[in-house]
Amino acid sequence: MTLPATMRAIVLPRHAVDLSEAIAGLRVEERPVPSLRKGQVLIRMLAAPCNPSDLLFLQDQYGVKKTLPSVPGWEGVGEVVASGGGFLPWFLKGKKVACAGQADRDGTWAEYFVTEAAQCLPLLAGMDAVQGSMLIVNPFTAAALLDEARSLGSNAVVHLAAASQLGRMMLPLAKDMRIPLLNVVRRPAQVELLRGLGAEHVLNSSAPGHAEELRALCQRLGATVACDPVAGPRTGQVLEAMGQGGTVLVYGALSGEACGGIDPIGLIFKQQRVRGFWLSEWVQSRGMLAILRRGNALQRHFVSGTLRSAVRAEVGFDAFAAQLQAYADDMTGGKVVLRPWGAGA
Ligand SMILES: NC(=O)c1ccc[n+]([C@@H]2O[C@H](COP(=O)([O-])OP(=O)(O)OC[C@H]3O[C@@H](n4cnc5c(N)ncnc54)[C@H](OP(=O)(O)O)[C@@H]3O)[C@@H](O)[C@H]2O)c1
Repeated sequence: MTLPATMRAIVLPRHAVDLSEAIAGLRVEERPVPSLRKGQVLIRMLAAPCNPSDLLFLQDQYGVKKTLPSVPGWEGVGEVVASGGGFLPWFLKGKKVACAGQADRDGTWAEYFVTEAAQCLPLLAGMDAVQGSMLIVNPFTAAALLDEARSLGSNAVVHLAAASQLGRMMLPLAKDMRIPLLNVVRRPAQVELLRGLGAEHVLNSSAPGHAEELRALCQRLGATVACDPVAGPRTGQVLEAMGQGGTVLVYGALSGEACGGIDPIGLIFKQQRVRGFWLSEWVQSRGMLAILRRGNALQRHFVSGTLRSAVRAEVGFDAFAAQLQAYADDMTGGKVVLRPWGAGA
């Protein structure tokens, strides 16, 4: 296959703290197809989603910085069309892979994407391309957070913003691990959504008496770990609800606020802890084989239908920015997925 010299891509010319401003600044441009180094693969992208981590990147609040202008997008799916040399890139050539990359180079919102072969997972037979484009960021994080909670010895896990795609994935994964989940959401419609998916414990943080209800349930089920993608005052509230020995794993910044309301007395005398969690670090602390095995186990869930990401729209380059704004305005409504070569590709 002869590779073109240029590709279409979504380009971020400058960051903006105001998300709508950052989205409005995105451009569709012709860029050079990235060149390859040893150990890397060139992927013809079939689908790439927008996650909250992409929104954080647009606002210059993500943990990885890129030299602008640059192409956003941390994950996706595509076909490996060229190898930069080495056994793994050679092995992956011609295969469909879920891929990710967290480096100062162009991301997945493009026709082509270069990444390390070690950051690709071959798709299993029966794995849908759009679902495969969202295989890495959320499913791995959901599984990793439950692993962390188990290793911290918690009998149950509190999960905030539980109507997120990640939160919905936690339901079957926690069930498999026999870990009761206390799902906290912020709207009645989200309570209904999670109940419809079979969640047993769903609490609405906007309802009167929520703090007492959460405290009572934490004590009854023995929840000493909470996974918190919201931050702000919720962090201190859930720590207080868990009491002695409670740990909050902060893994998102959806409120845009600093973690608050944390009682120093709890940190000093009740062995309470607040920690950050970042999937990138977790992956680096695992061997490649363990990641591959976990990836295959997660894919089997997708193939059997127990895991899936809700999708609001599959769109081409020109409609992408408008759909990003719709996603930012109603995140529970599902992901926007860029289909560089059309939905049938
Ligand atoms: N640390 C890591 O390595 C890592 C990896 C993967 C994901 N994450 C984080 O995981 C979280 C979920 O990701 P996702 O892709 O599953 O999200 P998503 O499907 O886009 O959904 C986001 C959810 O959060 C809710 N939400 C937004 N702002 C909120 C607030 N201030 N208070 C309470 N709920 C709020 C939304 O509800 P509404 O519809 O009501 O707005 C929606 O249900 C994100 O924070 C993401 O950054 C972190």
